[in-house]
Amino acid sequence: MKAVLLTGPNTWHIAEIPTPTPAKGQVLVKMAFAPINPSDLSFLTGNYGIKKDFPVVPGLEGSGVVVASGGGFLANRLLNKRVACTAGAGDGTWAEYMVTEAGKCIDVPETIDLRQASMLFVNPLTAISFIKQAKKFGADAIVMSAAGSALAKMVLFHAKKSRLPLIGIVRNIAVKEALKNEGFSEIFALSETAIFDNLKEHSKNYKRIIYFDAVSGGVIPYKILNALPDHSKMVIYGRLDLNPTEMQPQNLLFKQNTIEGYWLSKELKGKSILNVLKDISKIKKMLKGGFETQIQAAFDLENTQNAIEVYTNNMSAGKVLLKL
Ligand SMILES: NC(=O)c1ccc[n+]([C@@H]2O[C@H](COP(=O)([O-])OP(=O)(O)OC[C@H]3O[C@@H](n4cnc5c(N)ncnc54)[C@H](OP(=O)(O)O)[C@@H]3O)[C@@H](O)[C@H]2O)c1
Repeated sequence: MKAVLLTGPNTWHIAEIPTPTPAKGQVLVKMAFAPINPSDLSFLTGNYGIKKDFPVVPGLEGSGVVVASGGGFLANRLLNKRVACTAGAGDGTWAEYMVTEAGKCIDVPETIDLRQASMLFVNPLTAISFIKQAKKFGADAIVMSAAGSALAKMVLFHAKKSRLPLIGIVRNIAVKEALKNEGFSEIFALSETAIFDNLKEHSKNYKRIIYFDAVSGGVIPYKILNALPDHSKMVIYGRLDLNPTEMQPQNLLFKQNTIEGYWLSKELKGKSILNVLKDISKIKKMLKGGFETQIQAAFDLENTQNAIEVYTNNMSAGKVLLKL
């Protein structure tokens, strides 16, 4: 089968490798689509939280059809089903076939397109978690950086339902303009003058803000936190800026803000299967209800390099998928 094969950090090629065979409790998925997520880009460079031995097929999530079972109740139940799936400890989704644990697959109805199903796990589960975290914190507003992202649009979908105002922060005016009618309570572009003063003034409307930050490097994320009311909570969930972090101690000292980290993989490890299934059913409802992640293009596996370039050149324009 054809696959992207990562042989070292930042070193990969399209290779012909043996089609894997599922063991007991595993399934063989004939892959249909896999998105390129920021976490995949980190994985390619060796900077992601999950490390695997080389050579390895990258790709954290995707969709396809289960064509073989290694045995066991869960795996047999999925045979011939269309599924959304995530990679296990071995090879990932950027291949014509992938073996993964049956528990890492969810069958999806015909009404859900396999393109959308390929992005059913990572961002949707994170968005649901963010709303739960906001409620638990007693937030009366959410601030999100990288607000042009697919994840931010999903958080917006749930925030509107929960009547929680979502304030978006983006890098440039063009993205701010594109998001104008999406339903953010306010959007600030970092390229605007007096952005931090304006944000500070606007956030006086709220008492308790939770701020989800995907950038983490440089000084800007901490200047944003500094513009929010005292006792705000910053949750770092991404590393889009790889520059050293310039944390501002006054955030913790005088403003009594708190900073913590969030990683879906860690959260899922401590979560009961029942709670995961509850969240998945919310996601299926969201997709059935017409919510779609914007897709800007799909490329064949042979054109993975092109796909990565198109994606990294304009991430806010929508997801780029690999068609497998
Ligand atoms: N911790 C977790 O468990 C978890 C789970 C899911 C997602 N995430 C993270 O969530 C973030 C969004 O993911 P996604 O799949 O929704 O992304 P996406 O749709 O592909 O969009 C990426 C966004 O990041 C922005 N961006 C890129 N580099 C940036 C930088 N240096 N500074 C500021 N903004 C930058 C882009 O804005 P421009 O238009 O300005 O380029 C774009 O809007 C990623 O960091 C991802 O790793 C984390």
